[in-house]
Amino acid sequence: MKVTSKKLRKDWISFYESKAHKNIGAVSLIGDGSTGVMFNVAGMQPLMPYLLGRSHPQGKRLCNIQGCVRTVDIDEVGDASHFTFFEMMGNWSLGDYFKKEKTAWTFEILTKVFGLDKDKLCSTVFAGNESAPRDEETAALLVSLGVKKEHIYYLNDNWWELEGTVDTPCGPDNEWFYPLDSENPSPVFPDDYVEIGNDVYMQYKKVAGGYVPLENKNVDTGFGFDRMLLFLNGLDDGYKTDLFLPVIRDIEQQSGKSYDDGGDDRKAMRIIADHARTAVMLIGDSQGVLPSNTGAGYVLRRLMRRAIRYCRQIGLNGSALISAAKIFIEEVYGGAYPLLLKNEGYILDEIKKEADRFEATLAQGMKEFEKCVSSLERKNEFMAKSNPAYVAEKVIGGKQAFRLYDTYGFPLELTMELARERGLDVDEAGFAQAFEEHREKSRVLEAGQYKGGLESHSQTATNYHTATHLLLAALKKVCSPDVCQKGSNINEDRLRFDFNFPRKLTDEEVAQVEKLVNEQIQKDIPVVMCEMTLEEAKEKGFTGVFESKYGEVVKTYSIGEFSREICGGPHAEHTGLLGTFRISKQENVSAGVKRIKAVLNK
Ligand code: ALA
Repeated sequence: MKVTSKKLRKDWISFYESKAHKNIGAVSLIGDGSTGVMFNVAGMQPLMPYLLGRSHPQGKRLCNIQGCVRTVDIDEVGDASHFTFFEMMGNWSLGDYFKKEKTAWTFEILTKVFGLDKDKLCSTVFAGNESAPRDEETAALLVSLGVKKEHIYYLNDNWWELEGTVDTPCGPDNEWFYPLDSENPSPVFPDDYVEIGNDVYMQYKKVAGGYVPLENKNVDTGFGFDRMLLFLNGLDDGYKTDLFLPVIRDIEQQSGKSYDDGGDDRKAMRIIADHARTAVMLIGDSQGVLPSNTGAGYVLRRLMRRAIRYCRQIGLNGSALISAAKIFIEEVYGGAYPLLLKNEGYILDEIKKEADRFEATLAQGMKEFEKCVSSLERKNEFMAKSNPAYVAEKVIGGKQAFRLYDTYGFPLELTMELARERGLDVDEAGFAQAFEEHREKSRVLEAGQYKGGLESHSQTATNYHTATHLLLAALKKVCSPDVCQKGSNINEDRLRFDFNFPRKLTDEEVAQVEKLVNEQIQKDIPVVMCEMTLEEAKEKGFTGVFESKYGEVVKTYSIGEFSREICGGPHAEHTGLLGTFRISKQENVSAGVKRIKAVLNK
């Protein structure tokens, strides 16, 4: 390996630090909910408020290497260059330097630090349209630095924005290309070239009807870490860099198959390795995702179950996933992501649990799937006999797909993939309908239970809700500022609160939490509701689950300086109404999630 991943990480950060940038480190892979995008898909995503003008506590020049998760191309994973997790090397100017410095620094890092040949570099710039002018300025700067004039192309699609979002920063970009085969004496653009990264000049805001200029002229640079590593080592297969090789070797050894034989075995190995990596990163994330049937948890479940199916294809089982995860944590990513090492036991345990859950029903589910296929075949045979003009049906019904999902835990994508292998389709709309019907049924059921159990907005329930806010604030003080809510449930007799913490509280901590909460109750503090935009709320330090768009108005509740949360309410008007707070029970939900039950006595 000419350039190791470790060296590349260091080179990127040191270079930008030498240009007075602050390394802000990576944040969670989970989007903050402000854009409707579930995962961070670009390094700039967590920085959006700052690109829109807010001042960043670490200054105007920032850099990092940020993990991203993109699952739209999940079906492409298995080739040499698609991954569901990857890292982006980034740096930013928040209204500080602009094109002159940026072009010079990108040119410098590419040619001096990474040793690329300036005569082979190609660059594309924005051709211009009604929203923004042709980027002659960047083109001229590139030429002055030494990029060949005939290697600069004006393109219409040199524009970068976070797709599917509004009120987000965007602008024209300058993309950098290099010949895939550096030995090629006369490479032709674009066929023989690969994009290695881009500098986005974020000086516009995308609004509902178009684009408006931003006050600040920002720079947003992104270079794919995995891709650069591949490239700098003269490789053409992403699974051969040091980020993957130890895992591929492990899978080879366990399965007795050879990666270099290619074909389906190689494809399976790539999928297992890619999905295991993403599972490690999501479970080990600071906002730890666990496999479930909704949201990010469902994406994770899909990935893990798909990987396990491919394990079976090469004669392995879910334990291969655990073994891959261990290598990713210990040998590949632990250095750059110490949290993974810290939580290794927990991560491996959660992977094992999901693998066990899936394997328990996988064989049965496969049988069920085969039944669907053979009943379809029988039907087609029968119909063809009685009607020669009959066209064979080639679709697995939505209800059947839903049964596989609901009873055997087959993600829809898995059923679709199995169907495809048999030349069949799945009725996706029918699946969605069955899903919706099922959801509606459970909703009605739940509502019935709820009515029977308690009056929803009784004073007692309201008091418990307010006590939950005090409890969370106290846990943050006593246990860790990172504690956040993982679940909550209230009835007339108690509150139940789930939160992330690795162990049960000690008796002493329990006493401290109770004391803090009761102090707030004794002070009889008014609970103040205030409506403001989500941005303002965040700025003022209110916490909560951010599921809304910027600009949207949210309700915030403060209890003095003690607790500040975004919440839908309802709440007691003042804490004196609550009575005496006591923790009645602690339970273990999973390795990283603990549960407290608490009561309020009059
Ligand atoms: N935001 C740009 C990208 O993701 C840098 O490519």
